[in-house]
Amino acid sequence: MKKLDHKQLKKLFFEFFKSKKHAIIKDFSIVPEEEGGEGLFILAGMHPLIPYLMGKKHKDGNRIANCQRCIRTVDIEEVGDKTHNIFFEMLGNWSLGDYFKKESIEWSYEFLTSKKYLDIPHEKLWVTVFKGNKIVGKDEESVQIWKSLGISENKIIPLGEKDNWWAVGENGPCGPDTEVFIDLTGKPCGKKCLPGHCECGRFVEIWNNVFMVYDKQGGKITELSKKNVDTGLGLERTLAILNGYDSLYETSVLKPILEEIMSKSQQDLEKEKKDFRILTDHLRASVFILGDVNPTIPSNHGRGYVLRRIIRRSFRFCKKLEINVEDWINTSNIVIDIYKEYYPELEKNRNFIIKEMEKENERFSKALAKGLFYLKRMMPEIKKKGKINGETAFRLYDTFGFPIEITREIAEENKWGIDIKKYDILLEKHKEKSRAVSEKAKSGLVEESKETLQYHTLTHLLQAALIKILGKQVKQKGSNINKERLRFDFSHDRSMTKEEIKKVEEWIQDKIDKKLDVTKEKMTYEVAMKLGAIGLFNDIYAKKVTVYSVGNASKEICRGPHVSNTKEIKGKFKIKKEESSSAGVRRIKAILIQD
Ligand code: ALA
Repeated sequence: MKKLDHKQLKKLFFEFFKSKKHAIIKDFSIVPEEEGGEGLFILAGMHPLIPYLMGKKHKDGNRIANCQRCIRTVDIEEVGDKTHNIFFEMLGNWSLGDYFKKESIEWSYEFLTSKKYLDIPHEKLWVTVFKGNKIVGKDEESVQIWKSLGISENKIIPLGEKDNWWAVGENGPCGPDTEVFIDLTGKPCGKKCLPGHCECGRFVEIWNNVFMVYDKQGGKITELSKKNVDTGLGLERTLAILNGYDSLYETSVLKPILEEIMSKSQQDLEKEKKDFRILTDHLRASVFILGDVNPTIPSNHGRGYVLRRIIRRSFRFCKKLEINVEDWINTSNIVIDIYKEYYPELEKNRNFIIKEMEKENERFSKALAKGLFYLKRMMPEIKKKGKINGETAFRLYDTFGFPIEITREIAEENKWGIDIKKYDILLEKHKEKSRAVSEKAKSGLVEESKETLQYHTLTHLLQAALIKILGKQVKQKGSNINKERLRFDFSHDRSMTKEEIKKVEEWIQDKIDKKLDVTKEKMTYEVAMKLGAIGLFNDIYAKKVTVYSVGNASKEICRGPHVSNTKEIKGKFKIKKEESSSAGVRRIKAILIQD
């Protein structure tokens, strides 16, 4: 095996895929907005490429590769063990309707085993393949390809959906995958010591090749127009395997950060290993979130809140390990130095990153002092009940910015309980309220006059018409309504023709003239999707969404309000302007002309 550092590994990966005629592209922002993606952060290399996997043409061709920065917070509780990080880099290669299983598997095998590249001994390789389900049969083709490469049948393990079916979220492109594992020890721990079956640490997954040929929407699976390949090779994990490291924290990207943080503490390094690792991981993630081309700053909602939690959690660990918070923050310089060659934005934002962390430290110190003062006031009651009640925990979160884990830690230190149930109810109510405010802003409706309601309903009809006439790739990107006009931004990569504009106008006019009822209904998100409703569902915690229907012409998740029948829309619908708004986004301005 080649003992490589991160720079050498990236270089080899890019060289290899260049030789296989791939365009090597820069990775995308850590925030999925760039390409109209959804979610808080980029979760995988394919995530920002979804539009291309769905059929959009990529300017660099049908074969691309890159190294994508990713953030996954679902495993935050595991961070600090040997293998979990919030931030990681994923090397990947993609076929957008070009090559398929044969080339993809053969190239992964070649890169992993050939002397020129990673030089991993053939005998160490094991693989898993999809064993099939009701919809898709067993992936025999992959089995045959692996066999043709000399992988014996007993090392090809068929597994089900949990292991060998990959999708980035509930909806979107997905498909069966085949995963490559490295046998680290060569020694079975017991009877069923196999990849996917055994967690003894003998096998580590190194590469995942997904055959993205399906699209899942609202539980329904259809075939995509093209057969794509999406692969992912975790950078840190590969480095650990190649170098025989016991944990990711020994790799060239994490070790210098960990060592610097450790040097700032007098605590027992071995005993507190997990906490030092958490501080290392969280610092790197914070630097990447703050220093992104689309920077996020700490706040109380969305991705800003994720960042706030990571940073504030770290402040607590600094205190525990007796590290000056300033020293932890200044270690950002080491993170930036490691990565600046690949992510020049980090260098550009160096001062900003450090300043923002310092500001958050000040805010947190103040909030903590105030919150602790408040807690003191509540002490008689807490002591009486032996627990922090839900209202107090919520107030600490809402007014004093205590992430719940901090309240929990304080409670644990004092051997108190917390009424988490009540806290969750209050949090849910609070979210419901802020959701209503932000969705109103998203619908573009800033005031509710007779005129603006007409334009709001017209905006729904417009989106339905655009999808009908231009295609399913049309997605709302923005909306703004006033008494005189509607403005609607949507994803589409070329200008509309005169005929298309005319068709849209006529389709909408027809719906106005048909005097359609506008109705609303509450339903679960799944049902809404099954009924073909469009619109984004922003909060995974809400149980029901409101869907507005305009006759059978449009169905959209929205909070309203709307006209109750299209006969209330007075005038003739006219598109005044259709122009570019930003790359890949068009803007329509439309009015109602009065006779
Ligand atoms: N998208 C696949 C993964 O993240 C390759 O594992």
